Amino acid sequence: MNKIVDGKPPAYPYNQLETPPEGYTWDDISYVIGGYNWKALFVDKTGYIINGKPGEVVSDTTYLNQYNYANRDVGQDAAWVSYHSGEGKLVTDCGTCHSTGYKPDGNQDEMEGIQGTWAEAGVQCEACHGPGSLHAQNPRGIAMKIERDGALCGSCHRSESIEMVSAEDGFVKHTQQYSELFQSKHIVTDCVLCHNPHQLVVQLRQDRQQTSRTQCENCHFKEAQQQSNEKHKAMSFACIECHMPRVAKSAWGIAESFTGDVRAHLMAIDPNQIGQLSSNEESSLSQIGLDYACRHCHGAGMASPKTDEELINAARGYHSVPLPAPVSSPTPTPTP
Ligand code: HEC
Ligand code: HEC
Ligand code: HEC
Ligand code: HEC
Ligand code: HEC
Ligand code: HEC
Ligand code: HEC
Repeated sequence: MNKIVDGKPPAYPYNQLETPPEGYTWDDISYVIGGYNWKALFVDKTGYIINGKPGEVVSDTTYLNQYNYANRDVGQDAAWVSYHSGEGKLVTDCGTCHSTGYKPDGNQDEMEGIQGTWAEAGVQCEACHGPGSLHAQNPRGIAMKIERDGALCGSCHRSESIEMVSAEDGFVKHTQQYSELFQSKHIVTDCVLCHNPHQLVVQLRQDRQQTSRTQCENCHFKEAQQQSNEKHKAMSFACIECHMPRVAKSAWGIAESFTGDVRAHLMAIDPNQIGQLSSNEESSLSQIGLDYACRHCHGAGMASPKTDEELINAARGYHSVPLPAPVSSPTPTPTP
């Protein structure tokens, strides 16, 4: 989250926001939320998230207020889309996860539309290390708090109830990585086993560096040695193509091609499951089904479509090693 100072648009390392929503200038904006990687939303000078033209009774449900960046993985150009447009005043209740030193009481900058106050906008050092002024005054005497538990990250990267991964509009909701890990045996793996907390993912991806500290192969060397599909092996695509498909949607998602824009942290694949969501479409199943694991490459209309049956047969025992031929017992040498 960035505060707008002197009517200047925020600067981001990899992206640029040209204009605020239609009808507004940068002077009318107090904060921009996001804008780093996927999308951006804008807060006006009374503290509400903009969802209609300035000064109007908000009623236009087609007003375009959210800016989505281009995304090649999903095949989408940058565009403005609607987010709760025309639904009345939208309170900025985002500080719990998008700011540092958040307190639920009061209104930041005395703007009535903002719920709570913060010490700093955005996720800064003290969001993870706690208040550090004592350590800064006395660096040798007072240690900085260092917390490696996944629950720290999970205070923001979670669903409302940790046991359930919620879904919306046909996709898994984004921001639920901690709850997703809870669904599988990866409950034992803290985020920082895989992620460097000071580099995370986006900047490494942009710089074309390895995006995690530890690779799947480091802990799962047996599965890495054995894949039952010669064509896949020849293409040597990464484990995450099947095990961390883009099941969640932040800005863009195309349901028919089984692709959102945020990778899953559910990693177990159930080879007998096709779909991804519960029957009421309000939550995700705990394992990844073959629609997402396989059909973002093998969907209808793509180069190599596959039926449910073909996928299930190929997915079952995908990494199992064929049993070695039985060792025949050596013929005993007759003793003279
Ligand atoms: C429960 C914590 C939480 C709350 C509350 C929350 N967010 Fe987020 N938000 C996240 C996390 C975590 C991410 C990044 C990871 C992801 O998308 O899976 C994110 C990502 C975003 C992004 C994309 C950022 C980018 O760089 O492209 C935007 C925009 C955003 N949130 C807006 C909002 C707005 C507006 C609100 C309030 C109405 C809000 N969020 C409330 C946790 C939260
Ligand atoms: C997203 C959470 C998060 C943020 C934000 C964060 N840190 Fe850390 N930091 C950690 C964790 C977790 C560790 C534990 C070591 C590890 O796993 O790399 C750590 C370790 C450290 C260490 C110990 C030395 C080391 O690298 O192991 C220092 C110093 C440090 N952080 C300083 C900072 C400063 C300064 C900032 C702000 C510029 C910052 N951190 C922002 C999570 C964070
Ligand atoms: C105070 C809330 C908060 C905490 C604590 C937090 N995050 Fe985040 N995280 C966010 C928000 C909000 C975003 C989206 C920021 C944006 O893109 O504008 C985000 C983005 C990310 C991203 C995607 C962006 C990137 O740069 O790669 C990763 C990965 C991530 N967080 C991992 C972690 C890990 C690992 C930890 C714990 C060490 C952690 N986060 C702790 C709120 C938090
Ligand atoms: C730091 C070690 C570590 C890393 C890195 C790691 N895993 Fe795991 N993984 C585990 C442990 C521990 C388990 C649970 C014990 C087991 O089944 O071997 C597990 C279990 C699994 C399971 C079975 C889950 C279940 O609930 O049945 C899958 C699938 C899996 N990992 C995939 C991956 C993928 C894909 C990656 C890379 C993105 C990865 N793992 C990276 C440690 C790791
Ligand atoms: C077993 C390893 C592993 C663990 C544990 C893990 N991650 Fe990740 N995470 C990854 C990998 C691999 C990627 C994908 C990197 C890529 O796309 O190249 C990723 C991507 C992400 C992203 C970006 C998603 C996207 O599509 O842009 C976020 C946000 C994130 N992780 C947050 C977390 C948080 C928070 C935790 C702990 C609750 C966590 N991760 C635990 C391996 C892990
Ligand atoms: C990153 C894209 C990608 C993913 C993900 C993917 N595949 Fe493939 N797969 C391919 C390509 C490309 C081929 C080669 C074209 C062909 O033979 O149809 C292939 C070939 C196949 C074949 C034919 C093999 C042969 O020897 O003739 C089967 C069966 C198959 N995939 C099953 C699966 C299953 C099951 C999954 C999910 C668990 C999956 N694939 C995930 C890209 C992918
Ligand atoms: C083409 C898709 C595909 C790719 C690529 C892939 N896997 Fe798998 N993996 C599967 C499927 C399908 C299963 C489930 C097999 C079953 O349950 O019979 C599975 C199961 C697993 C399991 C769970 C095994 C268990 O005993 O529960 C682990 C761990 C795993 N894979 C790790 C990896 C690693 C590491 C890589 C990268 C080297 C990788 N996978 C690449 C499709 C894939």
